[in-house]
Amino acid sequence: MNQKNITWHEGKVQKANRQHLNGHKSALLWFTGLSGSGKSTISVEVEKKLHELGLHTFRLDGDNIRRGLNRDLAFSEEDRTENIRRIGEVSKLFVDAGILTLAAFISPFKEDREFVRSLLSNEEFIEIYVQASIETCAGRDPKGLYEKVRKGELKNFSGIDSPYEIPESPEIVIDTENQSIDESVLRIVNHLKNKRLI
Ligand code: ADX
Repeated sequence: MNQKNITWHEGKVQKANRQHLNGHKSALLWFTGLSGSGKSTISVEVEKKLHELGLHTFRLDGDNIRRGLNRDLAFSEEDRTENIRRIGEVSKLFVDAGILTLAAFISPFKEDREFVRSLLSNEEFIEIYVQASIETCAGRDPKGLYEKVRKGELKNFSGIDSPYEIPESPEIVIDTENQSIDESVLRIVNHLKNKRLI
């Protein structure tokens, strides 16, 4: 991409000013995990809790974003990388806007997640690995997609015939096979409190 004739234009209102007005920091909570692991469910509940605490939030979710901004993308490795690149950039804008941003995407590739991490400062990026075995996810099958995979109607499915690279050092691991949704939400909210983000 040619950026030769592009100049960054600084505004007079900065992220820190917006955070000050909001009365809290902004950050990106990045939920990664297999389809059916519980990313969307947990992120929805975390957002509800944060909202109840009087904090400014916004949630970005794979299935929703793929109906709009990223409707031109499918599930090849290239398209998944582009999906995460765009969401990373959009998330950064939301963090700049002073918002506690929650993003729930399979984001199967470590390199893509590290790219998103690189867009933000250390304390602003919180990687949350929502863990459940492929057998558990296939058993839950909330969207009937694993059944389609079994019937041979769906290819390139994450964790089956398309890779999922397990996070090596996420800030938080949620074990959805042994932890309730309420416990998971509490852990995440407590992490934000401990880091003095909220
Ligand atoms: S990602 O791999 O690019 O991060 P994303 O989170 O946006 O994926 O979208 C995943 C959602 O798309 C899944 O929850 C599922 O509902 C749907 N989906 C459709 N086809 C596939 C597929 N081949 N692999 C994974 N998810 C799929």
